Amino acid sequence: MNIQDNSRYHQVHARSLKDPIGFWGEAAREIDWIEPAKKVFDPAMGIYGRWFADAVVNTCYNALDRHVLGGRADQVALIHDSPLAGTVTKFTYSELLKEVQALAAVMVDFGVVKGDRVILYMPMVPEAVVAMLACARIGAVHSVVFGGFAAKELATRIDDATPKLIFSASCGLEPGRIVQYKPLLDEAIKLASTKPEACIILQRQQQACELVAGRDHDWAKLRRAALAAGKAAPCVPVSATDPLYILYTSGTTGIPKGVVRDNGGHLVALKWSMFNLYGVAPGEIWWCGSDIGWVVGHSYIVYGPLFHGATSIMYEGKPVGTPDAGSFWRVIAEHKAVALFTAPTAFRAIKKEDPDGKLIRKYDLSKFRTLFLAGERADPPTVAWAEAQLKVPVIDHWWQTETGWCIAGNPVGLGMLPVKHGSPTVPMPGYQVEIVDEAAKPVPAGTMGSIVIKLPMPPACLPTLWQQDERFREAYLTEFPGYYKTSDAGYKDEDGYLFVMGRTDDIINVAGHRLSTGGMEEILASHPDVAECAVLGVHDAIKGEVPCGFLVLKAGVSRTAADIEKEIVALVREKLGPVAAFKLAITVARLPKTRSGKILRGTIKRIADGEAWTMPATIEDPKVLDEIGEALKGRV
Ligand code: COA
Ligand code: AMP
Repeated sequence: MNIQDNSRYHQVHARSLKDPIGFWGEAAREIDWIEPAKKVFDPAMGIYGRWFADAVVNTCYNALDRHVLGGRADQVALIHDSPLAGTVTKFTYSELLKEVQALAAVMVDFGVVKGDRVILYMPMVPEAVVAMLACARIGAVHSVVFGGFAAKELATRIDDATPKLIFSASCGLEPGRIVQYKPLLDEAIKLASTKPEACIILQRQQQACELVAGRDHDWAKLRRAALAAGKAAPCVPVSATDPLYILYTSGTTGIPKGVVRDNGGHLVALKWSMFNLYGVAPGEIWWCGSDIGWVVGHSYIVYGPLFHGATSIMYEGKPVGTPDAGSFWRVIAEHKAVALFTAPTAFRAIKKEDPDGKLIRKYDLSKFRTLFLAGERADPPTVAWAEAQLKVPVIDHWWQTETGWCIAGNPVGLGMLPVKHGSPTVPMPGYQVEIVDEAAKPVPAGTMGSIVIKLPMPPACLPTLWQQDERFREAYLTEFPGYYKTSDAGYKDEDGYLFVMGRTDDIINVAGHRLSTGGMEEILASHPDVAECAVLGVHDAIKGEVPCGFLVLKAGVSRTAADIEKEIVALVREKLGPVAAFKLAITVARLPKTRSGKILRGTIKRIADGEAWTMPATIEDPKVLDEIGEALKGRV
């Protein structure tokens, strides 16, 4: 393919690597600093250097106050659209600021100060955005825990972040059921060894909950009182390198990694991305259909669009079933969104229900310009279907919780490059992406290898893991000296296009959600009847991958395998949460292993997926693979 084009991309990317200080120093002019950085990058600070090291700033000021002062007071900042609740609620920039100032004042009254951690365990309601921005306003560090995680996962995060305060709600809404959050919160606080001083609970009208006397407080009452008293907390100046938030993500064990995001670099990179990558102008309407519990939701439901003075849509619903596969088009048409950012899994779900796109044609999508996909590899058939149906560019882009924004994408604002299906296109500014072999040596074009990023990482990327510098070094920086290890594998083609093909660790991607099979194995192994187990991701037409657990039962277990398998499925739901979509547990007599005792997960996966496989040379007993094939019959 000839990729000669009119895009400014090549020039911009080259400059960002040649002159990073000049490049990011210029990008930083888009931000209102209390004190701008004298040193755009300090290589001596932190683990691999820090961006905007000596600058002072406030993230909430840049998201709200400056737009109110700068003429956007009456522009809608946030549209909350909930087909599950049957409501659409809009907040202008000045209304959102007022809410945030009042809630921040409530937090100050609870004694929350700069640097304190605050956990949010919230459904997709606008109050969650208000709480995130209120934390940012007073320099508190928020940690949002996705509502689909169970009590034990929440407890682990409470113990790691040691929050002073927790924001939660009585319930979340899922199609056909109300998810009671409060019992999960109570159980998590019981399990955790650190207790929060207070919880602020939003009573949703769909289902109220009991409040624990002395600990729980009614959100609406506190809000009303603060507004009536005219309370409004001012912005607290923070260091650009101070943490804005901690977001936990799956590691290779059951203990999640607390990814730290700073204030300054995050502001600069996200602001830069809104026009240059996503092609969105201030004042336009943007929709990111993720959940605030994931990094995509943090960056592009809340922060990026508000830094940019755009209008952000927050959606409490699903791509299908709320009420049908036309809901995405209804939202785009009704609110006049110019772009949508979602996960490929959502499109696979829509395509299954509405293969000919009949529902698409029911809506006026004339304002809609671009579809962005991320969270998992955008498979070429899904991209081709979306292109044909929507007749707009469909752009896959690759990133991780750790980076906070796109590593490789197709920059619409700089001028789009030709799309190649299966590729998220090219590295964004500041990212020098290499494909390397085991000795950290770059491999030729077309050769698969580990994908690594040359240090230093650009602004917004994680400076470390929360209070775990050593784990950060070990997990990301040690294996390929001088580089950040992404744990993704792939290749570059002759045009420099990147192809990200899969993880090199035991992380699987279920409906765009990142999950650790190691963490699930820990849960399976905790069952008293399980002697040995292995969990791996098997192909699923909608979710991409779903977990499948293989169990070897202890000798002498008298109950039926079917009963134990049911218990295992329930146990994963109870300990990890429904988001794991763990529905398949299969009992086998033995697991296939190498002579050195390593479970042959890759081979099991290929058998389960019906792919061609070869007998591993090091296998202990080849017959075990026939047994696995038999056990899988009729199950996947
Ligand atoms: N609180 C409580 N439970 C939740 C939840 C939340 N916030 N979010 C999901 N769940 C539950 C669901 O109800 C479901 O439970 P079930 O097993 O009882 O059905 C389970 O967790 C799995 O949820 P989900 O992954 O949403 O699958 P689904 O089958 O309900 O829907 C899709 C499938 C493809 C429509 C859906 O996964 C989807 O829209 N994915 C988009 C993913 C995305 O945006 N990812 C962000 C990365 S960019
Ligand atoms: P998360 O940290 O939850 O955002 O998950 C990050 C992981 O999801 C990456 O390391 C990849 O394995 C996968 N991923 C996300 N986006 C893409 C993409 N566009 N193409 C391929 N893999 C992706």
